[in-house]
Amino acid sequence: MRSPILDYLDGIIAGTDHVDSGALADYIPELAAADPDRVAVALCTVNGTVYASGDTDDRFSIQSMSKPFAYALAIEDRGLEDVLERVGVEPSGEAFNELSLDPETGKPRNPMINAGAIATHALVKRDDAAAVDRILALFSDLAQRPVGIDEALAASELATGDRNLGLAYLLHASDQLGHDPAAAVEGYIRQCSASVTVRDLALMAATLANGGVQPNSGLRLFSRRNTRHVLSVMASCGMYDAAGDWLTSVGIPAKSGVAGGIIGVLPGQVGVAVFSPRLDAHGNSARGVVMMEKLSEDLGLHLM
Ligand code: DON
Repeated sequence: MRSPILDYLDGIIAGTDHVDSGALADYIPELAAADPDRVAVALCTVNGTVYASGDTDDRFSIQSMSKPFAYALAIEDRGLEDVLERVGVEPSGEAFNELSLDPETGKPRNPMINAGAIATHALVKRDDAAAVDRILALFSDLAQRPVGIDEALAASELATGDRNLGLAYLLHASDQLGHDPAAAVEGYIRQCSASVTVRDLALMAATLANGGVQPNSGLRLFSRRNTRHVLSVMASCGMYDAAGDWLTSVGIPAKSGVAGGIIGVLPGQVGVAVFSPRLDAHGNSARGVVMMEKLSEDLGLHLM
């Protein structure tokens, strides 16, 4: 029998019909070519059951939703204290790609803005593999399928990546990168070009909801303490200059990506993922925000 939850999620998708505001991200040429009308939603409980509706199997790039997971991996690799010495945890209140570092320390203010995410990428231990390969292996463990890179998108972003290169050179100049700037940006852009579905993202978010244990495999990927830390940073910094609006209206830790995805995490309960490519003025999916607000209202997700 079809679960009533699926009918409910079909209604969430239908509720976005009237939302035609927003625009595709166009600073990455390949993203500007996306079909703007796609829309999808998925929930995954901490037991690992996934419910999804809409364009559930469409792939899109993870973009900034990769940042909390790469941050968690860097913390697992190096320990929290080490990572905190390189990257802060204060909301910047600025756009994701702002050319800003804390003037007192020269450190990126947090790991969710690009400056902090590039520094974080460079902190992931490389061992024999490139950092990005370890990050892809992590995504694959989280989503329980092999996650790969959209190479055309990565090439498109690399060709127009001057702003991120500028950030990396700024970090290098204040001794905060410890890595070749161009290589760090290339790895970071490849990390952002990982190709995922809302189902994958719901499983990834559910692992954070489940205290760092992937609900289906039972594999512990992050310690409970580190998971709590990452969720706290998502709550305060995950939605950039919309963080206050988000926390008051939706009320759960979240992270958006410029391809139109948003993940949200209700600790101990559920991981949520929505997708629709047109972005609002803050760079968050316009239909995605509408879906998240409705889910939060109906399902009582708000933490406060
Ligand atoms: O670095 C960039 O500009 C992109 N790879 C990621 C930006 C992003 O997803 C911002 N979040 N909404």
